[in-house]
Amino acid sequence: MRILSGIQPSGTMHIGNFLGAVKHWVDSQSPEAYYCVVDLHALTLEIEPSVLREQTADCVASLLAAGLDPEICTLFIQSHVPYHARLSWLLECVASYGELSRMTQFKEKAERQEGYRVGLLTYPVLMAADILLYNAQQVPVGDDQRQHLELTRNIAERFNNRYGEVFTIPEAIQPNAASRVMDLQEPTRKMSKSISSPLGSVYLLDEPSEIEKKIKKAVTDTENEVRFDWETKPGISNLLEIYSSFEGSSPEAIASRYTRYGDLKSDLALLVIESLAPIAERYRELRNDPVALEAVILRGDEKAAEIAGPVYRLASAAMGLI
Ligand code: AMP
Ligand code: TRP
Repeated sequence: MRILSGIQPSGTMHIGNFLGAVKHWVDSQSPEAYYCVVDLHALTLEIEPSVLREQTADCVASLLAAGLDPEICTLFIQSHVPYHARLSWLLECVASYGELSRMTQFKEKAERQEGYRVGLLTYPVLMAADILLYNAQQVPVGDDQRQHLELTRNIAERFNNRYGEVFTIPEAIQPNAASRVMDLQEPTRKMSKSISSPLGSVYLLDEPSEIEKKIKKAVTDTENEVRFDWETKPGISNLLEIYSSFEGSSPEAIASRYTRYGDLKSDLALLVIESLAPIAERYRELRNDPVALEAVILRGDEKAAEIAGPVYRLASAAMGLI
C-alpha cells in the first residue's frame, strides 16, 4: 500500500503532532511509505529565511528521532524534488479558482492578514501534487486536512477524465487514537504551535521538569472522579487520551486504575518523560551531526525523485507538453 504524508517545518513539534501524526507514520513505515518535509508550503506565510533553514533541519532530525528509519521508508524534502513545483503548475491549470477560494483553511488564514500571498490560495494544489506524484493510495492526515484531500481527489479525477488515466485516486486515513490532542490549559482547543498558552503544549524537547510542571498544572474540573467523558470532563479525558496513546491501553481502562487526579497526573508525567527522553537524546545526536543528516536527506531525495519523475513525465505528456 503506497502511503504519502507531509509535515510543515514550522516550529517545534509537540505531543499533538507526535501522537496525532508522527507516531502513526512511524508505526506504518514500510518501503512503500513516503514522508516529506513540506518547506515550500511554509513559504505561504511570512517566515524568516534563517528560521526556515533551521526549522527544516530540526524537523528532519525530530522525525528521525521519533523513529522514522530511512532504511525502511523514504524521508525527503519537498523543495529538493523539483517535480512537486512543476506538477503543481500543471494542476493549477486543472483546478478552478472557485474551488480553491472555498477552502476553509484558506479563508481562515486569508482573513488574518492583508495582502496575503497567492501561494496561500494555491497551497492545496501543491499538496495535491505532493500526493499524486507518488501514486499514493493512502494519506494519513489529521481532521483539518480532510478538505484538501477531497480537493486532491477531485483534481485527480478531473485530470484523468480530461487527459487519460494518469493518477491514482488517494484516500485519507486517520490515526485511530489521539487525532486531536487538546491544549492542557484549555482542553476544548487543539494543542497548537501558534496559539497556545505557555503551559498548554508539551514539546518533544521539553526538559523533564517542564513536562512535569505542565502536566501537574493541566486544567481539570471541580469533581474528583477519574472518568473518560469528553462532554463533561474534557481536561481529564485529554490526559487519559494522552496516557492511552503513550501506553497502549484504552482510556477507560486507565481511568479505572485511578481515584485521584493527582495520582493520574504524576504517573502520566512519568510516562511522558520516559517516553520522550530517548527521542530528545537521539534528536540532539542527530542535530549535532549535520553530515549524517545531510546524507539521509540526499538519499531520501533521490529515492523520491525516482518515483516522482516518471509520474510527472506521464502527466506533462498527457497534457500535450513535448
Ligand atoms: P501542523 O503542525 O499543523 O503542520 O500539523 C502537522 C501534523 O500534526 C498534521 O498531520 C496535524 O493533523 C497533526 N496535528 C497538529 N496538531 C495536532 C493536535 N493537537 N492533535 C493531533 N494531531 C495534531
Ligand atoms: N498541508 C499539510 C498540513 O498542514 C501538510 C502537507 C503538505 C501534506 N503536503 C501534504 C499532508 C501531502 C499530507 C500529504 O498538515
